[in-house]
Amino acid sequence: MGKGSGYGKVILFGEHFVVHGVPGLVSAIDSTTDAEVQKGGKGIQIKDERKTAKGYSEEKRLQQLESIERMLKTMGIDPKISLSIRIGGTLPGFSGLGASAASSVAIARAIAQELGMQISDEKINQIAYEAEKAYAGNPSGIDNTAATYGGLMWFKKNMAGGPDKVERLHMRRPIEIIIGSTGKVANTKAMVEGVAERKKKNPEKYDPIFKQAENLSHAGRKALENYDLKKVGELMNENHRLLQEIGVSSKELDMLVDLARKQGAFGAKLTGGGGGGCMVALTPGKDLQGKVLSAIKYLGFEVLSTKIGVEKY
Ligand code: MEV
Repeated sequence: MGKGSGYGKVILFGEHFVVHGVPGLVSAIDSTTDAEVQKGGKGIQIKDERKTAKGYSEEKRLQQLESIERMLKTMGIDPKISLSIRIGGTLPGFSGLGASAASSVAIARAIAQELGMQISDEKINQIAYEAEKAYAGNPSGIDNTAATYGGLMWFKKNMAGGPDKVERLHMRRPIEIIIGSTGKVANTKAMVEGVAERKKKNPEKYDPIFKQAENLSHAGRKALENYDLKKVGELMNENHRLLQEIGVSSKELDMLVDLARKQGAFGAKLTGGGGGGCMVALTPGKDLQGKVLSAIKYLGFEVLSTKIGVEKY
């Protein structure tokens, strides 16, 4: 049996903007998707044992099958191969945490091991990028990169098609965060397409917002490098406002963001594709993290308590 894992992630600055070449900041979180693959059976059989938001697996089923077809093609494997795939791990299937990219990385690694293929991380990343197209249409590559390598990263898509700019960053100490799930499964592909269409139709509105997003990513990087967490939080709030302006937030996301801030979070924003999915709140220290966690749980939303900047990767 072949085994493999991929990291979940939160985007701290720059989701959606990264698709258009704006740099973004992403951190892997302390949760992974794990896959086991065995040759045999009939066609591609998937047993998904992840904890998911309601309807997640059904909603993503077709995209998941397409992603595996793309993966096999990129790996040069006969598409008629029979494989039994089991997906599990500690990363919940909530939209926004890079669960699709983490599963693609995990499955590609497990397939490679089962078939005795030696594949570098660079190639795994490329396979997962191709697979990610099934879920995100025109992905930036930030999710598969975080899922493959883990850690904290500065990411800038190469709009000319060459290698993306990926810089590994280091933080003085890991920081506690809270992820709150709206419980709504989001269609990343539709969200990414929506932004691209609106941007094209209304450059007068969108171009200045994209410029602000770029400035924010740079300021966010600097604040993180200086470990100025108050500043990081303020900039995350600012980033959420820009995401609202480009039409990717939702009333549940805004509500969770407000709630986290009222409980003392240093900052909060939606994370990932939006339109549902998750919000991330910066909650340094166990006490603050616990307070924000309880408030969100109290309202009946699913919560994940984790850290960014963990360096075990
Ligand atoms: C999804 O996690 C992040 C998006 O920016 C899409 C992408 O970058 O591929 C919305």
